[in-house]
Formats: sequence, C-alpha cells, structure tokens
Amino acid sequence: MASLSSSKADVSQSNFRFRCIGCGDLSDAASQDFRCGRCRDLLEITYPAWKELSYSAEQLKSTWKDRRVSQEAIDLSGVWRFRELLPAIADKRLAITLREGNTPLYDLPRCARTAGVPRLFAKHQGMNPTGSFKDAGMTVAATFARNAGFSWVACASTRNTSASMAAYAARGGMRSLVLVPEGKISWSKLSQALDYGAVTCQLRTDFDGCLRLLQELVLRAPVYQLNSINPFRLEGQKTLALELLEQLDWQPPDHIIVPGGNLGNSSAIGKALLEIRELGLIERLPKLSVIQAEGANALVRTLREASGKKLVPVQADTRATAIRIGNPASWKKAVRVLEATGGACEQVSEVEMAQAKAEIGAEGIGCEPASAVTLAGLKKLVKQGFVKPDESVVLVLTGNLLKDPDFTIDFHRGELFKETNNAGQTAALAKLQRPPVVLDATLDAVTRVLNEAEKS
Ligand code: F0G
Repeated sequence: MASLSSSKADVSQSNFRFRCIGCGDLSDAASQDFRCGRCRDLLEITYPAWKELSYSAEQLKSTWKDRRVSQEAIDLSGVWRFRELLPAIADKRLAITLREGNTPLYDLPRCARTAGVPRLFAKHQGMNPTGSFKDAGMTVAATFARNAGFSWVACASTRNTSASMAAYAARGGMRSLVLVPEGKISWSKLSQALDYGAVTCQLRTDFDGCLRLLQELVLRAPVYQLNSINPFRLEGQKTLALELLEQLDWQPPDHIIVPGGNLGNSSAIGKALLEIRELGLIERLPKLSVIQAEGANALVRTLREASGKKLVPVQADTRATAIRIGNPASWKKAVRVLEATGGACEQVSEVEMAQAKAEIGAEGIGCEPASAVTLAGLKKLVKQGFVKPDESVVLVLTGNLLKDPDFTIDFHRGELFKETNNAGQTAALAKLQRPPVVLDATLDAVTRVLNEAEKS
C-alpha cells in the first residue's frame, strides 16, 4: 500500500477551527480562557478540510506504521506520529516532544478472571515520560503555546498536569506557573514540578478553587492556560485511541474504561473514536465508560439526577487525589461521548479501588489509585450485565504506580482504612497485603519468613 509522501502528510498550516460545544459557533481564534465569545461554553477543535481528504484510511494506517522506523523526533513521538488528525504545525521541528505516547498495551489474565471477562488489557499511560497520560496532551498544547509567542504557561492541577506541564515548558524554553491545592500532597508529583523549574503555588482551596482562579488569571496576565479546558490538550490525548487501535490491529475492543476527574480524557478518547469511525479507520465503536470515586462522583450524579442536562457538583473527597474533583469542567463533552458510544458511568468505593489497585499490582503492572477505579468499575459493570461475559475490555491506566507511594505503602501496612469500619472487606484486602517485615540479619529469620509466605 502506497504511503503518503512526507510533504503531503504534513497537513496545511490552518487545518482546524474552534467550535463551541454549546452554540456551535465557529471561529479561527480562541480567547485566553478558551470559552465561546457568544455563550461562554467550552470550545473544541474541528477539521473542516477532512471532508476533502485525498488519502484513504489504509494510507493513513500505513503512513503511521512506517513512521515507527523513522528516527526523526516528530516521528518518535507516539502523539505526533498521528499528526494528520492533529492541529498542524508549520514546521516539524517546532514540536516540543519528550517522545511521549508509545505506551504499552498489557494483557491482565488474572484480573480478567477476577472480573469475569475473557480478554482484559491495560493501556498504560503511566508509562509516559512524566508518568501520566497528561504528556500526550501537553506536547500539543505546549507547542501551540510557544507558537503563539507565550513565555509563560500555567495550570491548576491535582498534580499530574503540573508535573507534565512543567516538563514540557522547560523543554520548550518557557516558564511555568502551577496552582495546586494545599494538603493531601503526593510528594512524587510535587517534586517533579519543582525539579522542572515551575513556580509552584499551593493554594488554600481545592482543585476546583484553583481552576476558578486560573480562569480569571489568564484573562489578566500574559500566561497561556494548559488545563484540559484548552482544546489542544484534548487533541493530543486523542492519540491514545489511535495507538490503542493500531496495537489491536484496528479491531476495536467491545469496551474502553477510563477514570473520570475533570473529564478531559474521556472526552478526548470519545472524540477520537468518533473521528476515527468517520474517517473509516474502524467500522464499529467501542463503548466508552467512565468510572469515578464515590467521593468525587459529579458525573455519576449528573447522569442519574439530572439526566446529563445540568452539572450536579459535589464536595470532592477521595484518597485518589488525582480525581479529587467536584466540579468537572468538561462534563458536557463527557456526557456527549458517553451517549454517542453507548458507554456507562459508575462509581466505586475507596475499598473497591484499593483492592483493584493491588490486583493490578499483583500482575506486575501497577498504577496509581485513580487508574485502579477502572478495574473496580469493570467488576461492577460485569455484575450489572452491562459488560457481557464474552466481551473484550481495555482499561486505561492513567498514572504510574510511583506517583503515589504513600497510598500503596499505607495499603500494604493495613493503615489505609484503619479509621473506617469495613470488617466485611478486611479478609479480601488482607490476601493482597504484603507488608515489609523487619528482622534480625540471620538465615533462620529469613527462612522462617519464606516458609510462612509459602503457606499463604
Ligand atoms: N487519572 C489520573 C492519574 C489523573 O491525574 C487524572 C487527572 C485523571 C485520571 C482524570 O482525568 O481529569 O481528564 O478526567 N488529573 C488532573 C491533574 C486533573 O491536574 O493532574 P480527567
């Protein structure tokens, strides 16, 4: 099959427009807060020229495959490799890249048995350069920030966004400002932002308060906002779906399950699936489902109590700090993709999440707590009959195990739920706990531990 020539593959400079998700208004430029000038709703990126695309789905697939053997920086990026479906940049060398994407798809045979499905995979976005899925969006949005002439970028964050933004800003020669909630700190994520040189403000508020403040700040100061309200972020995050389908030889799974916080990622993956189908790269849509923590379940409540028509915000509280968000900005986009793909929205308890995290860890994979809601949610969706016993499922693991070591250590030491009454679940959790033991340095002591472990 003929590939696209490299010049043809680089789509023209202005291949996209902004479209308001509320009133549908189309524009060539966006204001600093990325809201519609007419109705204030969020913007998305649309590609009017796709209708006249001169290359076929098969040509696209083979071009993307060919680029895997290229040594050019832009082709080594698992995001920019799919650049025909991204906003175009004038020159390939302008992309700020850390070779993001290119993340593994693992099978999870033991978790599959526990959940009751025949084939279960994990698309591990925690294997990105800064350890979370944010890098896929950040490479695109940071590139456009620099192209627009900004020397400062900023974000509000539960901390993965800030780690990623700080890294890409540093690579691109820009300064970065981070607004994060004080307290419930993951030292790993904070240390990343500091090392990459961000100016870090820990505000006495929650994530939602940080985001509100940022939205005001970007209208007054020359800083470019890199939250997932920024539609360039979502375009980069779309490539997760492309890479996943390529790894599955373009045979879509029955279900894709993703954690939900501010709901940018689910919106991005859903947008990708719809676009990929429109372009003829797949014929059948997987169902995209979103799982939230019970204590941060704004989307679940929005769908159950308001039929997805208006947001039901909550006061968020969960040990999965990455998704401790009560007022998700992209809720409308998420409702739309759930409806379009026929996906479900569920919530899981802290115990269910912790158990699922340990089960994923026991497969030698590991992830951060927010990612583990996907497996916990899958178990519920199987019990409810939404996921059928013969269907294939992909869980999107959004963050690396090393992002939140406190959670993991507290879990294995049995300290995570010390103050809560969950007697019923203690036995199930105990089977998964592997607390470290302190011993005298003798052969006898170690042999005793080995023998005990053999029996368990
Ligand atoms: N998983 C992880 C590890 C995250 O860091 C986040 C969001 C999510 C899931 C939820 O994704 O917001 O697109 O629905 N973290 C953000 C941050 C908000 O600031 O790092 P979402």
